[in-house]
Amino acid sequence: MAESELIHLVADLSLIHTNGKWRYPGSWANYAPYGSPDLYLDLARLLEHGKFDGAFFADVAGTPLFEGSTDSTVEWGVAWPRHDPLPLAIAMSGVTRHLGFITTMSMTYHHPFNVARLYASIDHVTRGRIAYNAVVSGFPQEAQNFGYPTTPDHEWRYRRAEEFLDVLDKLFNSVEPDAMLWDRESGRVADPSKVHRIDHVGEHFKVMGPLPCAPCPQGRPVQVQAGQSPSGMKLAGKWADMQFVVGDTNKIRADHRARLDAATEAAGRPKRSVGILFAGLFDVVSGPEESRENERKFRESHPEKLGIVMLSQWWGLDGYKLDPRRTVHETIADIREQGTHHNNWGYLENALKMVDDKMTIAEYSKFFLRANMGFFGTPEQIADQLEEAHHAGGSNGGFMIAPRTGNPGGIARFVHEVVPVLQRRGLMRKEYAGPTMRENLLV
Ligand SMILES: Cc1cc2nc3c(=O)[nH]c(=O)nc-3n(C[C@H](O)[C@H](O)[C@H](O)COP(=O)(O)O)c2cc1C
Repeated sequence: MAESELIHLVADLSLIHTNGKWRYPGSWANYAPYGSPDLYLDLARLLEHGKFDGAFFADVAGTPLFEGSTDSTVEWGVAWPRHDPLPLAIAMSGVTRHLGFITTMSMTYHHPFNVARLYASIDHVTRGRIAYNAVVSGFPQEAQNFGYPTTPDHEWRYRRAEEFLDVLDKLFNSVEPDAMLWDRESGRVADPSKVHRIDHVGEHFKVMGPLPCAPCPQGRPVQVQAGQSPSGMKLAGKWADMQFVVGDTNKIRADHRARLDAATEAAGRPKRSVGILFAGLFDVVSGPEESRENERKFRESHPEKLGIVMLSQWWGLDGYKLDPRRTVHETIADIREQGTHHNNWGYLENALKMVDDKMTIAEYSKFFLRANMGFFGTPEQIADQLEEAHHAGGSNGGFMIAPRTGNPGGIARFVHEVVPVLQRRGLMRKEYAGPTMRENLLV
């Protein structure tokens, strides 16, 4: 098997302390509560032992609303609390040598100069193990924390993102790799002919440059992108090293690979130059009985009200009063009439396809938590599923996975039981290829 066909693995650690997951039996047992880095430090060591490429932290800097208020989201811990993940990634890099970190900052609300300087600095501190998940933000409560009445329009956000990534590129190129001298004899620090102003002037940004940072250990941080609309695909084709994709079937994975290859070629880059990390849950079990038991425990870790609040957030219904006793069909007809959701019509349509006309919102809020999409079974079965999915998606990239069960037990089981099977089959490496994330992930 060619090196480039290896499966790369990234663990999604984004919301392991919220949305009921913290309450799964065994989850967070013997650890100080969220806010202390202890659990994350142990997860970092575990992931490195399992030769994972990285840990991922999504980020949305806003608190979801339920029926017009943050009371229920706060009370039941729906995507709240949520610290900035960057300091955690830095702490985790201190107890590891090879594991990489993918962290998120909005291109809609932040300034590219700040982001370039921050990520270049973190690339130094982590010794070349940081990746930037460049997101176009869609949540209205995040917009309201940055002075916008609601999420700006899709096309505006993507125009800003195009310019944002252009500025980032110019800033990372503004200091050439061999610019530094640190010559004790003469006292010269850098060669000025190798450090350049960028003098960028555009619709959204005016940046003189240069980046006030020594050249990054990775050249530049690895860049990841997740948008999947035509504008999102265009952006990924032009700038991404890796794209995050939610694809539950091998047909979706194959179709997406074809779309991404087309977008990459249209941007003038060689086909396959962008890897894909397909997102999915996993549950490693010894047989069907344990799987059923894990699912039961998973559902029970979500009190009824939590399910309803999460459903409201999933459907984007900030101010809408969800009546648990009404049917899904009645409720969606009402939402359609009132136009009270934002951006999430696809999720509502999907719900209509999945339920009969008698299912109530209370029942559906449990049903949608069934979380049975992903990679479930014995270690050998999961390895089979991953292998097939990897080939379907073009064998270039891998998976961004999270356990359905709690942590650290869920990840420990994957590391100790599934990774050895993948390694035995030659699908995962037994040693890291180099010290930087770029060297490990992008081969
Ligand atoms: C796996 C995955 C991870 C994502 N992580 C984030 C995130 O951390 N923060 C965020 O605001 N959006 C996140 N998104 C949302 C995307 O960045 C993007 O806004 C969304 O897919 C809509 O873009 P589109 O209209 O181009 O599809 C994520 C999407 C996916 C599929």
